[in-house]
Amino acid sequence: MVLGAGEFAVSYGDDQTEIWVTQMGSWANMNTAFIDRTHGIVAIVDPFDGKGWLKALADENLVPTHILLTHTHKDHTAGVKAIRNAHPDIEVWGHEESVSPSLLGRIFFRRTDFTHVWNHAPNEAVVWEAGSIHLTVIHSPGHSPGHVTFHGHGVYVAGDLLFTMRSGRVDLPGSDPAAQWRSLAMAKTVLESLPGDWRLIPGHRYDWIDGTTPDWVTIEQALKHNISLNAPDIDTFDALPFNRFDDELSA
Ligand SMILES: [Fe+2]
Repeated sequence: MVLGAGEFAVSYGDDQTEIWVTQMGSWANMNTAFIDRTHGIVAIVDPFDGKGWLKALADENLVPTHILLTHTHKDHTAGVKAIRNAHPDIEVWGHEESVSPSLLGRIFFRRTDFTHVWNHAPNEAVVWEAGSIHLTVIHSPGHSPGHVTFHGHGVYVAGDLLFTMRSGRVDLPGSDPAAQWRSLAMAKTVLESLPGDWRLIPGHRYDWIDGTTPDWVTIEQALKHNISLNAPDIDTFDALPFNRFDDELSA
């Protein structure tokens, strides 16, 4: 399917969980929420349009309880302020390396005050739980410091580590191409361990192999066709044209 701006696709994971997926903004940022109505848990990943999220949740008598950030580029944190203003007690989670003081004030990063941080080493995994929501959080730096991915309940939320057909650029302040290569190797191992029919939700809805722009692909499709996941070595990966761009727009 191809979601309109701010349109929500709702599916159901295991247990009592609902998975909401939407795309928002001029760079087609993909947003995902893990919802457990029984325990009153609403965890939103990378909210772009805070007011849009608040309205959609309110329409369902839901209250956001957690914000989980893959990284702190502006287009992945744009909605945090509005949600936090409406719900000051909300928990905001991210990796501590994504708020390194040396990066604050740089144009691509938005100052984001986390209430809770992860601090695990690159390519290590920790579990995050709330109510019946159970996610594995993998520290996957390279596109940005402190980048993490989340997976559980039938979805792998890739942030800007992976898009459907390629991977995130590594030419921004704080980017590290060698770290990205290692994070991609870890991601491949993880994806190969997950059911092939789970969805890979990319950080942005960019082109797929057939020129369409699907909101997500299956893990099986990504493993088969994603160019970065199939690069044979770091030199081949590093030479891929989408690692570096002339523009400075799509962080
Ligand atoms: Fe980014």
